[in-house]
Amino acid sequence: MAILDKHKILETNATLLLICSFLVVTIGGLVQITPLFYLENTIEEVEGMRPYTPLELEGRQIYIREGCYVCHSQMIRPMRDEVERYGHYSLAAESMYDHPFQWGSKRTGPDLARVGGRYSDDWHVAHLIHPQSVVPESIMPRYEFLMHNMIDGLHLKDRMATHAMVGVPYTEEMLTNAAADFSAQADPDSDYDGLLERYGDKVNVSNFDGEPGISEMDALVAYLQMLGTLVDFSTFTPDASR
Ligand code: HEC
Repeated sequence: MAILDKHKILETNATLLLICSFLVVTIGGLVQITPLFYLENTIEEVEGMRPYTPLELEGRQIYIREGCYVCHSQMIRPMRDEVERYGHYSLAAESMYDHPFQWGSKRTGPDLARVGGRYSDDWHVAHLIHPQSVVPESIMPRYEFLMHNMIDGLHLKDRMATHAMVGVPYTEEMLTNAAADFSAQADPDSDYDGLLERYGDKVNVSNFDGEPGISEMDALVAYLQMLGTLVDFSTFTPDASR
């Protein structure tokens, strides 16, 4: 009874109740937030993450420009139905070089976080030109014009420098070779050793759209084929200490 009586003082005094509530919320808030200032990194680091190649970065820009995110998410949630359909749930580290991230909030089409390697380049090109030719019931719009928009990689050095400013670890060497790496990735007959040295052996080198020259289609398919393939989930184990 005694404790209830003491509580009555609080409950019948609005100002005191306000002050005490404020104190409780402040202490609770600090307990949650302060540790974050002392952690160097709140993202669990995983092996395999690398900055996007110039061609992939350009493809990503086209993905954003065309509003693909309006119909497609890029975040597999850790629920059983999602993991069974799309693969391993997305890790925070997998979008650490995304500025802005492409998680999306709408799924008119399927999640694309792990679409890389699931289909051939030819399938993607046919699908983007005319989705209904490969998925008859599809309501996805056509993007045939991407085949005809030819691009060069001259501006990519600047875009990569901008990404470097917000923390993507592009090196001086990557910036200097941006245009060369851009062309090399879309041409399997080129000398692409430098590209693989800078971005790793797993980089896809291909004439993505099957046509001479580099089109926006090449860049977009290069981006799609990389999605979700950087982290090797056959060897990945979550860090339980966090
Ligand atoms: C109006 C909504 C809409 C927009 C915009 C859209 N899509 Fe789609 N997309 C869909 C639907 C619906 C499907 C499922 C049917 C199909 O495969 O075509 C799909 C399927 C896909 C698939 C196959 C995924 C899988 O796992 O089978 C890819 C890849 C894809 N879209 C890429 C893109 C890209 C890249 C863009 C932007 C250039 C884009 N989509 C824009 C609706 C959309």
